[in-house]
Amino acid sequence: MKIFLDTANLESIKKFNDMGLLDGITTNPSLMYKEGGDPKAAMAEITSIIKGDVSLEVVSTDSSGMIEEGRHLREYGENVVVKVPMTPDGLKACKSLSSQGIPVNVTLIFSANQALLAAKSGAKYVSPFIGRLDDAGQDGMHLIQEIKEIFSHYDFRTQILVASVRHPLHVVDAAKIGADVVTLPPLVLDKMLLHPLTKIGLENFLADWEKLKTENPDINA
Ligand code: G3P
Repeated sequence: MKIFLDTANLESIKKFNDMGLLDGITTNPSLMYKEGGDPKAAMAEITSIIKGDVSLEVVSTDSSGMIEEGRHLREYGENVVVKVPMTPDGLKACKSLSSQGIPVNVTLIFSANQALLAAKSGAKYVSPFIGRLDDAGQDGMHLIQEIKEIFSHYDFRTQILVASVRHPLHVVDAAKIGADVVTLPPLVLDKMLLHPLTKIGLENFLADWEKLKTENPDINA
């Protein structure tokens, strides 16, 4: 399963990229707003740091605007995936951009039918928002299962990109289902790295090594 980071925060992107963990990045206008500053400079930097796919989202609402924006966004790099909303105009833009060889991520997917339609429009990725479904009292992970099952019956090349991930258990469940990608807020990836027993175990190893050195002063000689 590929891991994308769901952020426009350059510090986090560099931190996890240096660990070799990142297969790509997803951004959206809210994430850009959260970081402040010049979004164009951020997009240029992110696309240069990350070799894998970087989703940059359009803000036009009509298909021709989305297509034009998508072409401009691709100028940031060959790794740019144009993110369009799951609307009739979004699918029209998806069809057009995909036919021109520009990969598209269809976002704001909340039902299996929406994922099916986005795949038929040629999307490279569909982004179901599982956390927001959970928040609304539905089972977000069930949607991932449904999409996975539906896609397995056909020869779509569309990848399931699990978005709106809120905690590490979401990641385990998505991996067990066989989702292609999870996109993670930095905080979730931080939590996945840590376990209290790892911390305690390391402290014990280091303390025992200090004891060993005390008992054998020549050890470092
Ligand atoms: O990738 C989509 C994601 O950013 C939405 O997450 O937490 O705002 O529902 P959230």
